[in-house]
Amino acid sequence: GAPVEVNISKLEAGQMLRVEWRGKPVWVVKRTEEMLKGLAEHEDKLRDANSEVEQQPGYAQNRNRSIKPEIFVAVGICTHLGCSPQYLPEAFAEQVVGVASGFMCPCHGSKFDMAGRVFQSVPAPTNLVIPPHKYLDENTVLVG
Ligand code: FES
Repeated sequence: GAPVEVNISKLEAGQMLRVEWRGKPVWVVKRTEEMLKGLAEHEDKLRDANSEVEQQPGYAQNRNRSIKPEIFVAVGICTHLGCSPQYLPEAFAEQVVGVASGFMCPCHGSKFDMAGRVFQSVPAPTNLVIPPHKYLDENTVLVG
């Protein structure tokens, strides 16, 4: 599969764009300030808070699991059996995920934070995969 260019110029804080790369869904989310702050607040509840399992390129092995802090690029496939988790930016996320925003897999209930880090006590063994990507310019991400 060829790399995919994603124009993020119109992406607003809290919004997600979905694209396809190599037949897989890829998410591009512009995280809000609160979402980024929240990442530091529940690390004791994560299975792999420091992303030590290689589910991301080296340049994304940081708390945000991204190149630019606010822009989150991830393969939207649960690391359990491959369903696509739902994005829960607000409102009932607290009840479902246990934190103010995150992702929830509808198949067997795996929960991920806004950096795609998996919570403990769910079936998914690892964090979501971060695909290789880079910025061609300020508003263009190349996935692949
Ligand atoms: Fe996501 Fe099983 S496929 S929890």
